[in-house]
Amino acid sequence: GCSYPVEGFWKHSYPISVNTATSLSHSTPINAVLLKEALESKESDLVFPSEDFSSQALVPSRQKYLEMYKKSIEDPAGFWSSIASQFYWKEKWGKQVFSENIDVSKGDVKIEWFKGGITNICYNCLDRNVEAGNGGKIAIYWEGNEPNIDGSLTYSELLQKVCQLANYLKDAGVKKGDAVVIYLPMLMELPIAMLACARIGAIHSVVFAGFSADSLVQRIMDCKPKVVITCNAVKRGPKVLHLKDIVDAAISQSAKNGISIDVCLTYENQSAMTRGDTKWHQGRDIWWQDVVPKYPMTCEVEWVDAEDPLFFLYTSGSTGKPKGVLHTTGGYMVYTATTFKHAFDYKPSDVYWCTADCGWITGHSYITYGPMLNGATVVVFEGVPTYPDAGRCWDIVDKYKVTLFYTAPTLIRSLMRVGDEYVTRYSRKSLRVLGSVGEPINPSAWRWFFNVVGDSRCPISDTWWQTETGGFMITPLPGGWPQKPGSATFPFFGVQPAIVDEKGAELQGECSGYLCLKHSWPGVFRTLYGDHERYETTYFKPFPGYYFSGDGCRRDKDGYYWLTGRVDDVINVSGHRIGTAEVESALISHSQCSEAAVVGVEHEVKGQGIYAFVTLADGVPYSEELRKSLILTVRKQVLPAENAASRRRL
Ligand code: WTA
Repeated sequence: GCSYPVEGFWKHSYPISVNTATSLSHSTPINAVLLKEALESKESDLVFPSEDFSSQALVPSRQKYLEMYKKSIEDPAGFWSSIASQFYWKEKWGKQVFSENIDVSKGDVKIEWFKGGITNICYNCLDRNVEAGNGGKIAIYWEGNEPNIDGSLTYSELLQKVCQLANYLKDAGVKKGDAVVIYLPMLMELPIAMLACARIGAIHSVVFAGFSADSLVQRIMDCKPKVVITCNAVKRGPKVLHLKDIVDAAISQSAKNGISIDVCLTYENQSAMTRGDTKWHQGRDIWWQDVVPKYPMTCEVEWVDAEDPLFFLYTSGSTGKPKGVLHTTGGYMVYTATTFKHAFDYKPSDVYWCTADCGWITGHSYITYGPMLNGATVVVFEGVPTYPDAGRCWDIVDKYKVTLFYTAPTLIRSLMRVGDEYVTRYSRKSLRVLGSVGEPINPSAWRWFFNVVGDSRCPISDTWWQTETGGFMITPLPGGWPQKPGSATFPFFGVQPAIVDEKGAELQGECSGYLCLKHSWPGVFRTLYGDHERYETTYFKPFPGYYFSGDGCRRDKDGYYWLTGRVDDVINVSGHRIGTAEVESALISHSQCSEAAVVGVEHEVKGQGIYAFVTLADGVPYSEELRKSLILTVRKQVLPAENAASRRRL
């Protein structure tokens, strides 16, 4: 068993006694600092958007929002199909815009949107924008790790590069429905690779470049790709990470388990490492630069059904191994595009920068797909926000005249600590809207972001959502209504939150409890790859009739939603979801550890840190060396490789 470190430590956790198949038996502590700050915040804390801002906003008032929201709830089919019609469909969806069963008592959980509609998300991101006359518009500004290394691609150029890679992949034998594992850092080649897969109907599985070989093996074993796409190395800040070595180790481990990889397409990232220094497996490894540019710059689109899979993305749960979240094409396309447009009040003249990595859902939905579906100009940044110094973000904002800046509370808190002067020495006058994601943002970090970074001019969209939801669920629409620092405010169109008690009864008005969602929305994931039963058990069985988010939530008297953190056995370290069970099983795999119990503890910058209680094997004395060796074991099995953790959403 384990004892808890601090008396009263649990006092802010929800009394959880739900008898379900998932492990809700004890909760991780709600971030007490956050909760205290949130509870103390008053109505006078309302922060109003300026009239100038509201008057030009897509949704200029609460009233307009309520009208649209009402329509989205009363007639979801009508609401979403009129938005979907703005995209290109080779064939329109069938009579039924959507069908859903999310109630386990009524049979298998099944969700479909735009079934029978034939489309392609890459076509809608690229060809559609080029054909509309925007081929010359910058699609990607790429900023390298070093401040003087950069590049850019217009929509036409991006389309050509995507087509070349798509042609190569087809030649390498990748067909519709095949999986491709992508293990790339934030080079332009990462969104290029995602879009190339989508173009030919292949399913991408992007693995955050920095995850250990073990994690990569597990993802390879799961989806059995023909091709792995990687690069030789990357520099993050002053450090070089040898990604190809990690891939080599993973591929040889996978081969021992019976899954062999035919092709490892390797991009030569010259600024980090030269070819000569890269270990090479003749026959299997191929330099991207040697083959891809030789292919034609056009490539026919593989038309797919709206419900054909687009990608897998793994995320930690409260039990067992990471889960392969599966998103399909049509609904995800419509949902990411619409949420992006509204939550950032997107205008064609905007320059958008999201500091996340494409290895996470934020990078899938809000670096690649959502923005490009809108024809937006996106900044892709290879480096870290503290290199060469803590002013790098604002340097980049000024360099590209970034108007929409989307980041994570953990970065905000860490930059807050180093001092305002890193911010104020840059102009930042291009900024229009700020965004936050990944964990609850405490009101003091919110205020610093608002006052110092945004010069008290820019609304903040604190977007609550999850890998599973595909896109934003609860978020401000800047310009639409006043914000309360620390609150994600109101549900997006089509989203019906329900706060339930431990028995699953929906609470009304001002309340707090478990955050669930009623009904499906186009962007929701359709299954856990290869394990539909776990999908149902984890998300739909805890509170029958609802999708259960795993988060706690409070609704105040004005109807504003305040997310309070996970209530299951998942901890959130710098916005990085980590299952306590995963850490525990890594610890007990250590020969000198017989038992382990892991909890989250409050952390000033990271939100939560990991705290482990261990029982050592008989006769083994505790030592500093052993402590380090246990941490290393966890690092190796569960966490991204060294230095990479800081890239989570930074
Ligand atoms: C947390 C990231 C409060 C939450 C997009 C959720 C948040 C988990 C917020 C999903 C927010 C994300 N306010 N909490 N604005 N955004 N979370 O799957 O606990 O990596 O369940 O998706 O992050 O993390 P994931």
